[in-house]
Amino acid sequence: MTIHHIGYLVKKLERARLAFEALGYGVEQETIRDECRKVDIVFLSKDGYCIELVSPYAPDSVVAGLLARAGNSPYHVCYEVDDLDAAIERLRDARYVVSSEPAPAPACGGARVAFLVHPYLGMVELLEKAG
Ligand code: NI
Repeated sequence: MTIHHIGYLVKKLERARLAFEALGYGVEQETIRDECRKVDIVFLSKDGYCIELVSPYAPDSVVAGLLARAGNSPYHVCYEVDDLDAAIERLRDARYVVSSEPAPAPACGGARVAFLVHPYLGMVELLEKAG
């Protein structure tokens, strides 16, 4: 498994994007609306690091509560894996609990993603490698 991106939860997507651009980040992928999770997503990169900006556009978005509690902040590291189901099974043995079952992510070309939570780490995302 390799690190794919770090997810940042932000209140104002365009303002956050400008703030990252001021640090020298470039846009990798323009804004995509994920209607299942009710978030807008932009991918930026710098020095080989990829940042995902995630911003809810509706009060009943899956991350609206977390944003209200935590404020603008990084909230997950995403790991790319060959076999999503096998990776989930392996992490279950290491006390990770699935918080979002595997589902297609429009912002990742429709590839399946899942979210897991660990009691001593917090949230991680797994992204299934395309093809
Ligand atoms: Ni992510």
